[in-house]
Amino acid sequence: MAGSLPFGRLDGRRAFVSGGARGIGAAIVRSFAGAGARVVIADLDIAAATALADEVGAAAAGLDVSDAVAVRAVMAQDGPFDILVNNAGVDQHAFFTDTTAGDWARLIAVNLTSVLACTQAALPAMQKARFGRIINITSEAARLGSKGGSVYSAAKGGVIAFTKSIARENARYGITANAIAPGPIRTPMLEQAVAKGGEKILQAMTGATLLGRLGEPEEVAAAARFLASDQAAYITGETLGVSGGMGIGG
Ligand SMILES: NC(=O)c1ccc[n+]([C@@H]2O[C@H](COP(=O)([O-])OP(=O)(O)OC[C@H]3O[C@@H](n4cnc5c(N)ncnc54)[C@H](O)[C@@H]3O)[C@@H](O)[C@H]2O)c1
Repeated sequence: MAGSLPFGRLDGRRAFVSGGARGIGAAIVRSFAGAGARVVIADLDIAAATALADEVGAAAAGLDVSDAVAVRAVMAQDGPFDILVNNAGVDQHAFFTDTTAGDWARLIAVNLTSVLACTQAALPAMQKARFGRIINITSEAARLGSKGGSVYSAAKGGVIAFTKSIARENARYGITANAIAPGPIRTPMLEQAVAKGGEKILQAMTGATLLGRLGEPEEVAAAARFLASDQAAYITGETLGVSGGMGIGG
């Protein structure tokens, strides 16, 4: 790989991380900034995004990534980007019969439409540069289904299918697109699920992994950093489980 950056380095690369203010996104921001990337953190929570940006030498944008018009405006102002991490997401804690059309719209908007919006806004510059890394954070819930997370799982399944299609359409531009499917990761999202569902939920989640434990946000960030690196140039259209073996089936 002549001319490529050293293993895992992202020096000079410009990265956009949605939902980067906390949890998995924040670990990705820290990892990418530490590897030399210039990172823009796009998050609804502008205060937390700004605090993290100041800490790691990144930039922050207050943004609802499910709003395609707002995404386009921020990308036009802060871009172009070499790396796009579609990480923002919201989960669901209700059986399908207890959900409303409003719940479906919000879950699909934040978990799937945001991925479409950010990808469409980022792609033209990547195509022009003939280089790009798109990393979509899906979930093992997409591959296994989820009791109490039906619409979330459907949206995350859409992310996997979309990733494969984007990989097919953009290989000729030197752009790769991959997904990461986390299992249960210790973040505010998971803490909220445990607060709602109790210890039983926590035990069920860790019990579903082969390794019998929660994952850490840094373990997802390490996979994202590898997929963003020059060394991952021959990997595209894949979904990588970072889930303690949860995704391999029974
Ligand atoms: N934590 C887990 O166990 C787990 C497991 C599988 C998949 N995931 C996925 O990983 C990703 C990150 O999850 P997390 O656990 O770090 O979540 P989190 O709730 O801890 O953090 C999510 C971040 O996204 C931001 N965000 C939410 N909606 C947004 C929007 N519309 N626009 C911009 N920012 C928005 C939030 O403000 C927050 O900073 C999500 O896509 C989630 O579905 C998480």
